[in-house]
Amino acid sequence: MCGIIGIVTKRREGQTAEIAVECLDRLSYRGYDSVGVATLGDNLEVVKMKGKVEDFSHKFDVNSIRGKVILGHTRWATHGPPTDYNAHPHTDCSNSIAVVHNGTIENFRELKAELEMLGHKFKSQTDTEIIPHLIEEFKRRGMDSFSAFKATVNAIEGTYAILAVIRGDNRIYFAKKYNPLVIGIGEDTNYISSDIPSFLPYTKTIVVISDDEVGYLTADSPLNGGVYIEHKGEKIEVNDRIKIINWDAESASKEGYRHFMEKEIMESPRSVKETISGLLADIDEVMKAVKILKDSRRILIVGAGTSYHAGLLFSILLQREGINAIPVIASEYYNYRTSTDDSILAISQSGETLDVRLAIGKFKAEGSKIISLTNVIYSEISRQSDVSLYTSAGPEIGVAATKTFTSQVASLLLLWSAIKDEDFSYLRNAHIVVEDSLSLSGKASAFGEELAKQSNAYFLGRGLSLPLAMEAALKVKEIAYIHSEAYPAGESKHGPIALVTQGFPVIFINGEEDLGLQDNVQEMKARGSKTYSISINKSLNTDREILIKVNDKRLFPLAIAPLIQILAYRSAVIKGTDPDKPRNLAKTVTVR
Ligand code: M6R
Repeated sequence: MCGIIGIVTKRREGQTAEIAVECLDRLSYRGYDSVGVATLGDNLEVVKMKGKVEDFSHKFDVNSIRGKVILGHTRWATHGPPTDYNAHPHTDCSNSIAVVHNGTIENFRELKAELEMLGHKFKSQTDTEIIPHLIEEFKRRGMDSFSAFKATVNAIEGTYAILAVIRGDNRIYFAKKYNPLVIGIGEDTNYISSDIPSFLPYTKTIVVISDDEVGYLTADSPLNGGVYIEHKGEKIEVNDRIKIINWDAESASKEGYRHFMEKEIMESPRSVKETISGLLADIDEVMKAVKILKDSRRILIVGAGTSYHAGLLFSILLQREGINAIPVIASEYYNYRTSTDDSILAISQSGETLDVRLAIGKFKAEGSKIISLTNVIYSEISRQSDVSLYTSAGPEIGVAATKTFTSQVASLLLLWSAIKDEDFSYLRNAHIVVEDSLSLSGKASAFGEELAKQSNAYFLGRGLSLPLAMEAALKVKEIAYIHSEAYPAGESKHGPIALVTQGFPVIFINGEEDLGLQDNVQEMKARGSKTYSISINKSLNTDREILIKVNDKRLFPLAIAPLIQILAYRSAVIKGTDPDKPRNLAKTVTVR
């Protein structure tokens, strides 16, 4: 995964490192095993360490790091454990070239062996370190810097977003294959990063880099040649690519909340409102998607983690209409064979998840039409799709998907109604359901506080409540480190109930009345379980209960989603874990 940033400026040298570290902080959801910066002034200097961005700011006097060209990196370890040495940026033998990289180089062992034969000395166990040495090697053979960089990119195989600085010029060289890279155009400073929110406080003018492109960036405006891009040797007209985005900078800051996760849950009503109005404003695109879905023999709904749960919910809605909808866990895509009669709905907040990309790559090659629902404009997955739909949740920084999940569910309800030819104006009130539900967040927090004392929990649901129960269990597991499992409530009797002893917490998610959950509550109570429920409109008579009133039952998942998130968030806070940066995780998973 990893987050990379490059900044090249005409401003005073002193501020740039500070800005780079601030950008890295906003990128650290992509990985937080280690952090480092390289600055190019008269000399090339590298400062790096194992740990998070805040540790870096405490350890080093960032203001004293000077240079007008800066690279930064925050790492999610793949090759080599998180250590100071394995932290990026990596350099060549003569300390003239520094590189940061997001991705994996598959042929690095062969290249490393060749470079070692030629006398290159390596300091880390990473795949990335071969890049500065290859550039150095090509330069030794007489190439200029850009040619040496391009020759290096041609030599490596794998996935990458690479930034390099080379002593002798004030450029940031870049290359991209599979991993995201976007340029931000500022006044006297240009940025290049893994994502837009990292530089959002400084500019909203962007240029998205596509696969197999290489180029370089200076501090000049693109009109004066500040951005140069090539695709397979052909120069790209950069000015045609410039876009202005409408995200606001505040959405990438905590604004007084203790954690991004809490802030983002609280933003859910606005995210849902903007998502629905965004889709209604783009109704032609929505109807294109609807036509494809309706004309299909089968619909495969592909996603990972939280996005899979949104897709599972959608598949149940469609199956109940007699539509052949198949929920697919993205990483298991190879089990499915599609054809020109099928369509694919790919759901991904980031629009980057590699498993989803691999899945749609295969299904597209088999002739299926691809529709995507992502939260990031011009994301990799959107660009791979025949029809791209968006949630308008704004940037989500916390690793746990919260407002984006609620917005995905709202979008899918709209698609479901459109598929049924049903009037979907009821969705204009969807955000009110979320808002009303958040007024009960104190009760969900109280559940979370009790759960924080436990080591295990079950979340049970039936029908459309099952994906919500699964999402609740995932949230509690990933941020509060409590072992929690979700089951269809009826299935709990076929094994899971064996673990239930006195006080074992079982949380029922009860969105649809009369599916039989009452019986399951009694079965659990009879075995001493402490029962909880989050119910819509009708009590389940559990030991503790949150009862939510929802007038339009179609909208009930939007009432439950924020409360399960609050419950998990509060458990994490009580346990003292960092809900924004849970251990071993990264928000965007671009490895298999
Ligand atoms: O960006 P995506 O929606 O494709 O991400 C998929 C999962 O990695 C993601 O939903 C993950 O499960 C969340 N961090 C859970 O909160």
